[in-house]
Amino acid sequence: MSEPEQEFDRRARTREIQAEFAARGDALGWFDALYKEAAGDNEKIPWADLEPNRYFRAFAEKTGLRGNGRSALVVGCGLGDDACYLDDLGFKVTAFDISQTAIEWARRLHADRDIKFEVADLFEAAAEWKNPAATAPGSDIRGGFDFVLEVYTIQPLPLEMRERTIDAVASFVAPGGELVVVTRGRENDEEPDELPWPMSRRELSRFETHGLVQTFFEVMPGDDETPQPRFVAAYKR
Ligand SMILES: C[S@@+](CC[C@H](N)C(=O)[O-])C[C@H]1O[C@@H](n2cnc3c(N)ncnc32)[C@H](O)[C@@H]1O
Repeated sequence: MSEPEQEFDRRARTREIQAEFAARGDALGWFDALYKEAAGDNEKIPWADLEPNRYFRAFAEKTGLRGNGRSALVVGCGLGDDACYLDDLGFKVTAFDISQTAIEWARRLHADRDIKFEVADLFEAAAEWKNPAATAPGSDIRGGFDFVLEVYTIQPLPLEMRERTIDAVASFVAPGGELVVVTRGRENDEEPDELPWPMSRRELSRFETHGLVQTFFEVMPGDDETPQPRFVAAYKR
């Protein structure tokens, strides 16, 4: 099978699994099902290329991002390549995902790294960790991170969950902390019709209702396989 055919095939299968779970009223269960079905073959997962996200890397290089020992949280980390990149930049990294299969896979791939990979649901974690004194159950993760990274975790969740998802992501940023969001982008008046549902600038502006000030915004062209433009936005609390 040629590369474009493979890409079409894995995206079609991803939409099929998502639709099966959605029909049962389950918006989140399909992620773990997809990772399980992949059985260790990252080529079955449309977003898992075992590389840091190239749009985030372009942002980091352009802005000279360095951790200098600051804490970082990766939301919906998948197989953990962005977590490793932040580790390389000198952050103390925690990364979580709702899929237990993804987290076990990430731990195996990056066993040599001092990164905390945790299984957690964004919505529950947002409620439990927002108090800096609170501790995530079964671990020593505390709320309030100096740097929060979200890559493609908002766009595959249904549009009706969008505000709640944005609110949850925003809640992890400590006072003085920063947030970077990488997402497919769309015009404010465009109606997205299929998974993943890109974000509009109007939707992004909701981050600013949480005391976050936008410090960076760039539209980057998509790639051959996924031509939609990407939005890279950074905020500071
Ligand atoms: C499109 S993937 C992107 C993964 C990774 N950020 C990347 O770019 O390779 C979205 C990820 O978010 C995770 N996810 C979805 N809903 C979540 C939730 N409620 N809490 C935590 N993780 C979630 C999925 O399991 C999946 O790994």
